[in-house]
Amino acid sequence: MGQLENGCVSTSVDKDDNCNPTPQIRRKDWHYFVTVPKILAVFLALFITVLVLVPPYSFHLVHPSTTKQPFSEALSPISTHCASANPITSSEFRQRQKHLARILHDNNIVAYIAEPGANALFFGNISGSSWGLSERPLLLMVSPVLKHGEVEAKITILTPAFEETRARLLTIPGSGVTYAAWPEDANPYSIAIQSLPEIGNIYVDENIRHFIVDGLQQAVLGIQVTSAPAEIVQLRERKSQTELELMKCANEVTLLAIRAVQAQMYIGIRESQVRRMMEKALSAAGLTETFALVLFGENAALPHGSGSDRVLDTSDFVLIDCGGALFGYNSDVTRTFMLEDSSIPMDHVLYWGDVHAAQRAAYDAAKAGVVTAEVDASARSSLRIRGVEQFFTHRLGHGIGLEGHETPYLRGGSNDIIQTGHTFSNEPGVYIEGKVGVRLEDCFYIDKQGDAVYFTEGVGGPSRSPLYP
Ligand SMILES: *[C@@H]1O[C@H](CO)[C@@H](O)[C@H](O)[C@H]1NC(C)=O
Repeated sequence: MGQLENGCVSTSVDKDDNCNPTPQIRRKDWHYFVTVPKILAVFLALFITVLVLVPPYSFHLVHPSTTKQPFSEALSPISTHCASANPITSSEFRQRQKHLARILHDNNIVAYIAEPGANALFFGNISGSSWGLSERPLLLMVSPVLKHGEVEAKITILTPAFEETRARLLTIPGSGVTYAAWPEDANPYSIAIQSLPEIGNIYVDENIRHFIVDGLQQAVLGIQVTSAPAEIVQLRERKSQTELELMKCANEVTLLAIRAVQAQMYIGIRESQVRRMMEKALSAAGLTETFALVLFGENAALPHGSGSDRVLDTSDFVLIDCGGALFGYNSDVTRTFMLEDSSIPMDHVLYWGDVHAAQRAAYDAAKAGVVTAEVDASARSSLRIRGVEQFFTHRLGHGIGLEGHETPYLRGGSNDIIQTGHTFSNEPGVYIEGKVGVRLEDCFYIDKQGDAVYFTEGVGGPSRSPLYP
């Protein structure tokens, strides 16, 4: 369309007295109408060439909300991200057992006893999934023995007699692992005690079931069966470099998975669809025991809401809390984000900023030597200044490792001291029932200098804005 200088819009070359164009302008006008279609044709041809030649995944650069990279393609960098991760070696297991044996020896304890689970996995490579708990006890027993003046660990496995073959299939690191089998008509606890190098006081895994403690206690008069002290609990709480490397990769890939799923999302998608995509992405990453909480809009106001088929609306934030395990070591990441096509109410965006600031405040407070309650308090005081403290209804964080939630915890009332090798989630939130929920979660560890370092740092660390999780 030609716009003439006197303000008239000309769609034809008819004479128009009101416009009264000069002959010069008329010639230009003619010229314009002949050449513009030519130029347009050239551009159209170029555009079609681009359409034909450029692979489809490039288009999300042009128009991200309508053209997406195929999900399977987006998962390929995720599936190789932890390819070089290695499981805990036999020699690291032996070191753990030796540490444990030394503490037992120093405390005059004859054995540390654990059921299949996180502690038995840590000391003896027996996870809860490699041996399911039943009413028949299978126990890992670690005893101190003196060899050439040095304290070594002796491993004994108490197993139901009819299951001995299966118990021997467990790969338990350690030299000279022995098996004590109890027949169905015998007292398993008497057989356990008799199989130990010495008879005396016993430490048990704090998660052991009570009937086992009772059984051990009643098998020999006069011995004490008590939960392992902090010194032993800390062997698992304070992670080694190898453990930290596994957790780094697991957390990085979890965040990459959230971002890959965000890129696939659109207004109108359902919580259940996103949950399935998350599970797929986490499994593609090689994580096991995966979980994904996907909550839209007001559903996120319940911190542990279960998700539904709710459809994503333009005004909804998306909350994804997810993770999985890499060779037993867990990740846990939460992001609250929007899509490019979202239009989030301003007060909700402000809550996002409040939570983001609280996460930062907690991170700055976390250092070796600091009491865990203080870190929780610093997130809370950041929210108090912004007038939203009452909406932060849960503790700030939990320890993480072989268990998704483990000691120590970042919560008010806890006086545990933060130490090198400790690992925590940092997950403040604001929850307003019936309206909105915002939570941001990154896990961190305490390095050798005593400073906090995010496991997600290698892939950009905490969320930058609601659009960039
Ligand atoms: C620990 O057990 C797993 C199977 O549950 C096995 O693959 C792995 O090799 C074992 N590790 C060691 C060091 O024996």
